[in-house]
Amino acid sequence: MTMKQLPISYAYDAKHVQSLKKKYLQFAAMAIPLVVIPLFFVLTAPVEQQESRTAVPLSVPNPLEVSPEVENTSSSVDQRREVGLQRIYEPRCNFSVGKWVRHEGEGYYTNSTCSLIPDQLNCFKFGRTDSDFLKWRWRPDGCELPLFDARQFLELVRGKKLAFIGDSLGRNQMHSLQCLLSGVDFPQDNTKDAYFPRWYFPIHDFTMATFWAPALVKVLDSESDIKGRTLTNTMTVELDQPEPSWASEIEDFDYAIVTAGHWLFRHLAYNENGQLKGCSEEDSCEEGRNITALGRFYGIRRAFRTAFETLIRSKNYRGMTFLATYSPQHFENGEWNTGGTCRRTGPFIEGEASLMKYEMQTYSTQVEEFRMAQEAAREKGLKFRLLDTTKMMLMRPDGHPNFNGRSLHRNMSLADCVHWCLPGPIDAWNELLQYYLIEASVDNDAI
Ligand SMILES: *[C@@H]1O[C@H](CO)[C@@H](O)[C@H](O)[C@H]1NC(C)=O
Ligand SMILES: *[C@@H]1O[C@H](CO)[C@@H](O)[C@H](O)[C@H]1NC(C)=O
Ligand SMILES: *[C@@H]1O[C@H](CO)[C@@H](O)[C@H](O)[C@H]1NC(C)=O
Ligand SMILES: *[C@@H]1O[C@H](CO)[C@@H](O)[C@H](O)[C@H]1NC(C)=O
Ligand SMILES: *[C@@H]1O[C@H](CO)[C@@H](O)[C@H](O)[C@H]1NC(C)=O
Repeated sequence: MTMKQLPISYAYDAKHVQSLKKKYLQFAAMAIPLVVIPLFFVLTAPVEQQESRTAVPLSVPNPLEVSPEVENTSSSVDQRREVGLQRIYEPRCNFSVGKWVRHEGEGYYTNSTCSLIPDQLNCFKFGRTDSDFLKWRWRPDGCELPLFDARQFLELVRGKKLAFIGDSLGRNQMHSLQCLLSGVDFPQDNTKDAYFPRWYFPIHDFTMATFWAPALVKVLDSESDIKGRTLTNTMTVELDQPEPSWASEIEDFDYAIVTAGHWLFRHLAYNENGQLKGCSEEDSCEEGRNITALGRFYGIRRAFRTAFETLIRSKNYRGMTFLATYSPQHFENGEWNTGGTCRRTGPFIEGEASLMKYEMQTYSTQVEEFRMAQEAAREKGLKFRLLDTTKMMLMRPDGHPNFNGRSLHRNMSLADCVHWCLPGPIDAWNELLQYYLIEASVDNDAI
């Protein structure tokens, strides 16, 4: 597929897409940069931390909560296994396919029970008035995704360390997890660099860290490039070398969640073996540098391969690895920089939305690399699991901050239709994560 075939409208309405298609095809070469820039623009700046640090206990009625023993933090894993987890664990559930169904009842947290929501994602603090979008749960076909249970989750990760590696959507998931857990064990902020937030949950000796590595691999350019202050420069990436910040520390971690994609749509120059190998597209190659346009998916594939290989080959890494797949954005009635917004208040219904071609190709490239890595990891006894969030999130145009988020570094006249409100549908990513932690605890042989 060439870039020229890419549909570039953000709108999912079929008629709208048809009418836009013709208009946009002539600009097809620009398609991906347009899609990509909001990520640098809106999302890369470190979020401002909240001042209040008071813990407010959550009271989440949980129909799946199984027994008082689960609540007893000193009970053994074996005990929990017998009493609780098995009952809600359905082996080998496929979460990729399903639908959002109505779910009445209280949410896990609110903007008042969780004091850790960054302003960028705190939609209710900044004027969002509709809350119906919180009343949906992901229902996989043929099985049930267990509700999130903070006490259970914290037992599963007691004494462990979890790393988010990648871009701001990983950070978004981290903030969701913080809120889900903070009512039971309020984390200490051990952050030294705003791009590398680190939190410690003292009661459970659990550490959560985020490693900013938007391309996963090493970026050779300046800080301002990797922190997204410059939007249009060609960034040079070492496709065969992981970003050292995470690669040097990952052996200390028990879990790694990889989230990336959007930054690899930028204008990139690709290095391999320390040599310039090619560029993402013609206009990423500087004039006079006689090198090949290898296409963006070449870079995406290599970057994921390098990240996964690094994890598999790290001598002392015995962790469980997750890939959170491509998270679609939902600008409608315009692009990110031409007045596009996301004002919907409910999910799409089946058939109403489909992935655009470049999104589908991003997703399938990620998943292909993941599957290959999973095979290799299996031979070393390492678990790889897919947080297959793409289809799920495609259906949630209602979950973004739109104009109801604040960020120091953001142009407030532009809508954020990329990140996810907290609370919001991204909380389901942590329900998936919890499922796989349960799986690992009850079925250690499932590799
Ligand atoms: C919690 O578990 C410990 C050890 O199994 C036990 O001694 C204690 O009585 C339990 N507490 C409650 C409230 O069940
Ligand atoms: C889950 O279902 C999807 C769609 O049918 C399929 O492509 C995928 O391979 C399945 N995943 C697993 C792990 O079976
Ligand atoms: C929470 O949201 C409400 C509006 O729903 C707002 O009035 C309030 O100020 C917010 N509180 C915090 C702490 O963000
Ligand atoms: C570019 O490289 C190709 C193959 O390496 C070569 O055939 C061609 O002459 C070069 N063009 C220029 C302008 O240097
Ligand atoms: C913010 O975005 C608007 C609309 O695209 C634009 O006109 C304005 O120049 C931007 N402001 C800054 C500071 O970038």
